[in-house]
Amino acid sequence: MAGFADLSTGFQLDETVNQRWCVARRPDGNVRPDDFDLKSAPIPELRDGEVLLKTLYLSLAPVMRDYMSGQSFAGEAPLEIGDTLHGRGIAQVAKSRHPDWREGEVVQGQLGWQTFKVSAMTAAEKFRLMPANGLPASLGLGALGMTGLSAWAGLYNVGEPRKDEVVLVSGVVGGVGSLVVQMAAKVSGCEVIGIAGGSEKCAMAEHLGCSSTIDYKAGNLVSALSDSLPRGLDLYFDNVGGPTLDAAMDHLRRNARIVLCGSISEYTRDAPYRLPNYTRLRRADAQMRGFFVYNHLDDWDRAMAEMADWIRDGRLQPVEQITDGFEHMPAALAGLYTGQNMGKQLCRVRCEPLDWI
Ligand SMILES: NC(=O)c1ccc[n+]([C@@H]2O[C@H](COP(=O)([O-])OP(=O)(O)OC[C@H]3O[C@@H](n4cnc5c(N)ncnc54)[C@H](OP(=O)(O)O)[C@@H]3O)[C@@H](O)[C@H]2O)c1
Repeated sequence: MAGFADLSTGFQLDETVNQRWCVARRPDGNVRPDDFDLKSAPIPELRDGEVLLKTLYLSLAPVMRDYMSGQSFAGEAPLEIGDTLHGRGIAQVAKSRHPDWREGEVVQGQLGWQTFKVSAMTAAEKFRLMPANGLPASLGLGALGMTGLSAWAGLYNVGEPRKDEVVLVSGVVGGVGSLVVQMAAKVSGCEVIGIAGGSEKCAMAEHLGCSSTIDYKAGNLVSALSDSLPRGLDLYFDNVGGPTLDAAMDHLRRNARIVLCGSISEYTRDAPYRLPNYTRLRRADAQMRGFFVYNHLDDWDRAMAEMADWIRDGRLQPVEQITDGFEHMPAALAGLYTGQNMGKQLCRVRCEPLDWI
């Protein structure tokens, strides 16, 4: 992306040191190259009870700009200027002096934006062993990770879709949205209408199971929603907030549910969008309910088992956008807020070990 090229020029992955991306400045609007600082430091010696993790993949998520702004959500320490960015990743245990973790195992958890991590594998880091189940390890950041749990918990714990209901999904080709559309259409038997930016994304949404799509970048979202929702909607899975949420609220059927997953259209604004028509809920006996994925961790095993089954039986086709190279993390993050990604955006820092699966 424009402006980010200089950040990556001359970068080489160095296996003898830990390289990490740090917060150089609080973002103003979308993240920019000067907001990031690349540092390197020696890899610390392992002490008893610690492991050395070698990063394979890192996740990119819209919440990361909030981290850079000093906010924290799931018990992470708020970031100070100079700190390594928070972020989940997939890593292989390169060395272990920990009784519960063995060399060669592949794990997912809170790695931070760095190429190695020395960790005591504390509960706060939420590391989990990746099952060697024949599926690619990268899915541990998408369908078989927090993104998958977000889609599953938002749709089933909060949205409770029923067969033949009309479901509207915004951000429908993003990491969460691309899973929600498939689960709603192919697992729950709903009619799904998707909102995405651009004809290529709309075509992808239809491939994933949408019966029709709205390209909000073509303009006239309001009339396009009226055309696409002649019967109104039973469930709106909201990934974007702002005027899209506003427009969707004009189409609530009786007992409709709105799942507040995210509001990415507002993340780079100075002030949040103020919803003018929340009283529409009253007229339709409708509900609007948020959720936070970390409050649904008790459902991890069930959700992951179901998602893996649906991947195997073909109902769920994970969509990943993999950027190669740790040097491109800042540009890949900036791209989320301008809709550059299709599916779960992640970064491949090193190749998956061939002897693992
Ligand atoms: N509640 C929770 O616990 C939880 C958990 C995970 C994620 N989330 C939230 O859920 C949402 C989706 O997450 P994700 O991981 O799927 O994100 P993602 O992969 O980055 O996808 C988000 C999509 O939003 C669209 N978008 C970006 N800027 C937009 C704008 N200004 N207006 C309208 N659409 C815009 C983009 O698609 P287009 O090109 O189509 O615009 C993008 O592909 C985010 O808001 C995230 O913060 C919440």
